[in-house]
Amino acid sequence: MTVAHDVKDLELATGGRYRIDWAGQEMNVLKQISERFAEEKPLSGVRLSACLHVTTETANLMKTLQAGGADVVLTASNPLSTQDDVAASLVVHDEIPVYGIKGEGKETFYKHIHAALDHKPHITMDDGADLVSTIHKDRQEALDEIIGGTEETTTGVIRLRAMANDGALRFPVIAVNDSATKHLFDNRYGTGQSTLDGIIRATNILLAGRTVVVAGYGWCSRGIAMRAAGLGGNVVVTEVNPLRALEAVMDGYRVMPMMEAAKIGDIFVTATGDINVIDEPHFALMKDGAIVCNSGHFNVEINLDALAAMAGGPPNLVRPYVEEYKLGGRSVYVLGEGRLINLAAAEGHPASVMDMSFANQAMAAEYLMRNVEKLQTQVYTIPEEVDMEIARLKLLGMGIRIDNLSDEQEAYLNQWREGT
Ligand code: ADE
Repeated sequence: MTVAHDVKDLELATGGRYRIDWAGQEMNVLKQISERFAEEKPLSGVRLSACLHVTTETANLMKTLQAGGADVVLTASNPLSTQDDVAASLVVHDEIPVYGIKGEGKETFYKHIHAALDHKPHITMDDGADLVSTIHKDRQEALDEIIGGTEETTTGVIRLRAMANDGALRFPVIAVNDSATKHLFDNRYGTGQSTLDGIIRATNILLAGRTVVVAGYGWCSRGIAMRAAGLGGNVVVTEVNPLRALEAVMDGYRVMPMMEAAKIGDIFVTATGDINVIDEPHFALMKDGAIVCNSGHFNVEINLDALAAMAGGPPNLVRPYVEEYKLGGRSVYVLGEGRLINLAAAEGHPASVMDMSFANQAMAAEYLMRNVEKLQTQVYTIPEEVDMEIARLKLLGMGIRIDNLSDEQEAYLNQWREGT
């Protein structure tokens, strides 16, 4: 009998399995964790509900958690990011209930979140805190069973810290995003590459010589700026944080307010985590043909309602993921409905980088189980030694060896008398 699911088409399962295995070849750290989990079964008897992007990389994480003994259910963390063949394969080949269909509406998205909570999880695994926030708002009965949660992304961690500061958070959550082996790699190199991949797949435009405006200069935006510059773009950064703005300047980018950048940009990419970063006054100044997209978690960074109002109606779909808003004599093009362009028009971050993010997720679930008694209702970071172990395993998998401190060097670092 097939497990419960709401996916596009189970016939897609075979293709999905090939792609999941292909990604798995790049996920060496996760593979090693999976082998250990299969022996030690640290998640035995644990019901785990995950709300993540349904991708080939996530599928490998789900299989790892299952190998560790968890009873896993997966729901989509974004209406446009689901890879339908992957969803089908997890249902058919791994008996994992999956709820996610690429292009699903908001109502279906939340129906799916509730279906994942019907699983009565002991652990929640979020990318954007949708499970946690739904539990706290609408499904408080779920709190009885929950031991803790994990959170993948910057936006989710910001939401969780706001809940903790308000005294609203009711169970411990591990902020996977805070691990160095997550944000320094996934956010920077993963978002950098996959965002440019999404823009190029959606538009097929040449970036060389174009002015690319990157909103924000956090780890994700840094990656985007770096890769846009690598493809020959003239990068402009907008920021509100003086320290980050200064870093952007010294990294060699022009920095200016969005009202100025709006006039000169050819391509705009937001990754700030905040709302209405590109708004009506900016659209009013944009050049004919300007392209606007988002790589931040939620579709709130570009004010599309304002743009639709300015255009006096809905946009024209000129090619998949490219919508044209006509503003008098000018056109502004929005990619991927203002949702994560890297997952809407491309496949998200490559497996090699998700390997470390999802190694953190698997280790975080294990950590929650091993420390149930000790943990308070707080937002935690994974212990540094776990983070370091993930880095060590990643290097090992890449065949890269590094030096070790000699006893003499170790002793030197631990003393304070010796100087010049
Ligand atoms: N977030 C960004 N890229 C991703 C991927 N490939 N899989 C899951 N979550 C992601």
